[in-house]
Amino acid sequence: MKTVLSGIQPSGKLTIGNYIGAIKNYVALQKDHDCYFMAVDLHAITVPQDPAALREQAEMIIALYVAAGIDPDKAAIFMQSHVRAHAELGWIMTTLTYMGELERMTQFKDKSAGKESVGAGLFVYPSLQVADILLYNADLVPIGEDQKQHLELTRDVAHRFNTRFGDTFTVPEPYIPELGARIMSLDDATKKMSKSNPNPGSYIALLDSPDEIRKKLSRAVTDSGREVRYDPVNKPEVSNLMGIYANFSDLTLKEIEAKYDGQGYGAFKKDLAEAIVAKLEPLQSRYRDIRESGDIARILKQGAEKAAAKAEPILALAKERMGFIPSA
Ligand code: TYM
Repeated sequence: MKTVLSGIQPSGKLTIGNYIGAIKNYVALQKDHDCYFMAVDLHAITVPQDPAALREQAEMIIALYVAAGIDPDKAAIFMQSHVRAHAELGWIMTTLTYMGELERMTQFKDKSAGKESVGAGLFVYPSLQVADILLYNADLVPIGEDQKQHLELTRDVAHRFNTRFGDTFTVPEPYIPELGARIMSLDDATKKMSKSNPNPGSYIALLDSPDEIRKKLSRAVTDSGREVRYDPVNKPEVSNLMGIYANFSDLTLKEIEAKYDGQGYGAFKKDLAEAIVAKLEPLQSRYRDIRESGDIARILKQGAEKAAAKAEPILALAKERMGFIPSA
């Protein structure tokens, strides 16, 4: 059975971009893979975090994983900080990553742009992500397009380790959705939809109310034409909405084009809002049940135990290969 690992940062409300790019595939992959899904709290603290907000957002991710359909008895659902091997292998991977590689990372460039000072953790962030993935010998890493560069770095560092110290780590493959790898902002189709965007009108959060969803979609930017046609180059806004629609319904892009032929954008946007509401309402009700059940602590304990059992021997082997004296 192949191993799957992925994670999401507890640094804001999760959006339908996170759902389409990542969570939807987590749910699909758990059926026939050995899966590990975490909230990456050690990554979130690379930019300043309010302690209460960090705790709330971390719990929110775990409850959303379960509400979206990840079964905690099948997949390990856990907090990154509960499995100490992440921090330890993270340090080791920092020593194997080149400064030049880290300087090229676009996520670092974006997050540090215009800031007077940034923590060193933000710079070495990708080395911790390398460790997250190699620690489980993951074969597949479900991610959106924006994480591809970090995955390529992971592959390079895995090769580097294996060449220097002998075959130890699996070289992972990215698992990126064909449609929806990069869901764009509702107010600007040149920007990725992001949970850290200060304008809430730019994204649909998984916990937005039906009315908020309807309102945000009715205000979503489109072009001045009226043709519902998939053409990402010339019609980026409409194509983005069509990609979201296809992900929230059983319709293909061709079927969506045919359905709204000659109708303009009004009916299309309305139906899209209803398709999203129909998926998110039951998810939100499961989410509330899980938060109220007090089950999260138990899920996290079970998940961390399963994750540590997989990770510890891999960390121990890597350390031994590097020349560390094994502890008695
Ligand atoms: P994060 O928290 O920014 O995003 C979580 C996941 O959601 C995907 N995503 C999107 N997909 C499509 N369209 C969008 N607009 C969109 N926005 C976000 C991201 O690609 C990601 O898959 N560095 C990672 C977290 C991480 C990780 C890992 C991921 C840490 N360790 C190990 C995989 C494996 C991040 O910041 O994701």
